[in-house]
Amino acid sequence: MSTRNQNERTRQTGTAGRRTEERQHRSAKPGRRVHSANRRRKRRQAGKWKLAAILILAFFMTLLFARRSSELSYQEQTEEDLEMDAIFAVEFLGQGWSAWMPDNYAVYRTSTYPVAFKASIQRQTEGMTGTIQYQVNVSGYGWTDTVENGEVARVDGVSAPLEGIRAWVNGDLAEYYDVYTRVMVEGEWTGWAVNGKDAGEPGSGKHIEGIRIAIVKKGNTPAPITEKEIDDEEAWKASGVNPALPMVALTFDDGPGIYEDRILDALQSAGARATFFMVGEEVVKYPDAVRRMAEQGCELGNHTWGHENLSELSDDGIRETIRKTNEAVFQASGSQVTVVRPPYGSTRNNTLPVLGSMGYPAILWSLDTEDWKHKKDPNATVQAVLTQVKDGDIILMHSIHEASATAAETIIPELVSRGFQLVTVSEMAQAKGAALEPGKRYGNFK
Ligand code: NI
Repeated sequence: MSTRNQNERTRQTGTAGRRTEERQHRSAKPGRRVHSANRRRKRRQAGKWKLAAILILAFFMTLLFARRSSELSYQEQTEEDLEMDAIFAVEFLGQGWSAWMPDNYAVYRTSTYPVAFKASIQRQTEGMTGTIQYQVNVSGYGWTDTVENGEVARVDGVSAPLEGIRAWVNGDLAEYYDVYTRVMVEGEWTGWAVNGKDAGEPGSGKHIEGIRIAIVKKGNTPAPITEKEIDDEEAWKASGVNPALPMVALTFDDGPGIYEDRILDALQSAGARATFFMVGEEVVKYPDAVRRMAEQGCELGNHTWGHENLSELSDDGIRETIRKTNEAVFQASGSQVTVVRPPYGSTRNNTLPVLGSMGYPAILWSLDTEDWKHKKDPNATVQAVLTQVKDGDIILMHSIHEASATAAETIIPELVSRGFQLVTVSEMAQAKGAALEPGKRYGNFK
């Protein structure tokens, strides 16, 4: 229903209410003169109550119509409002997950083969039920069960290649949209398979090399891929980050410690990365955690040796605590520190010039989970992130609290399923075109 129709409907309801009101006034007028003053007053009072009841009824009926019309509103939306996208990612054997690819883009690799697939929807039309569902055909195993909306389609523990894929939308979406899927087999793209038809040659022993998927309004077909899009895709393949899609940088301070493995497990299974701002005196106690961070492509950050407030140190004191921690991180992991976060976010006095002279910017944050306040309530930390998170955020957490690790185990897969790429601070700066200049402070890259 359009807004105009809705207003008319509301006005009509209002007019009906007033007419009833007039009738009430007429009938409330005394027709005979035999009433005592008392009875007249009583009757007038009863009339007022009736009037009030009718007005209240009219009010709720108006609400009911308004609600119905907003529930149905997508049926009257403009063409542009109905634009909706699929995003998808493919896991390649030995190379991990691709970036989330936008609608109608292609991801393929000839050096290896796909072993898992996931897809989600962006800009889902308001008021429409349904989601994207899909299955993959695994060589030697056949079709997997149907999964949906960001869930991973694969056979667990199996590294056999995919031979086919099926994808479709359900609910209201199925009435308005078609899902087009095609795959690359032996270097050639197949024709489009529509709405759950098989893409590929399942059971043939020929594995697929790439996947392309698009959602279009019924009656349309996916646009051809342009040269530029193919170039962009090459760039994303190299970096693993797609600048066209939303991203956030999760950061974990004050570790490493005994909860790093849980956080790293959650990152690994979501194909995600984070940045760890570590204190040197813990780095020497948990070198294995630091090595694992580096192996998973996480960024290694310096948070001083003993969590000193850099604003209160001499220039030499700042250099010393940063240098010592850098060495400990390198000892543990064989990898270099690339970013620094001053404890307490404090960058007064000579902090910035001295960090700048060492080649470092100061990395702060834009979303403070205050997880250290929620040591008994991981859900408060989860909610702090999920209710506030925006593209380009640097999210502050601390890896030394058990509740923070518990929260991370929910936050990480949920952000991924909402379409966020979880990247390191440096990856996000690069993807957003922000030069990280030594001696400057950065809280986000929007
Ligand atoms: Ni700290």
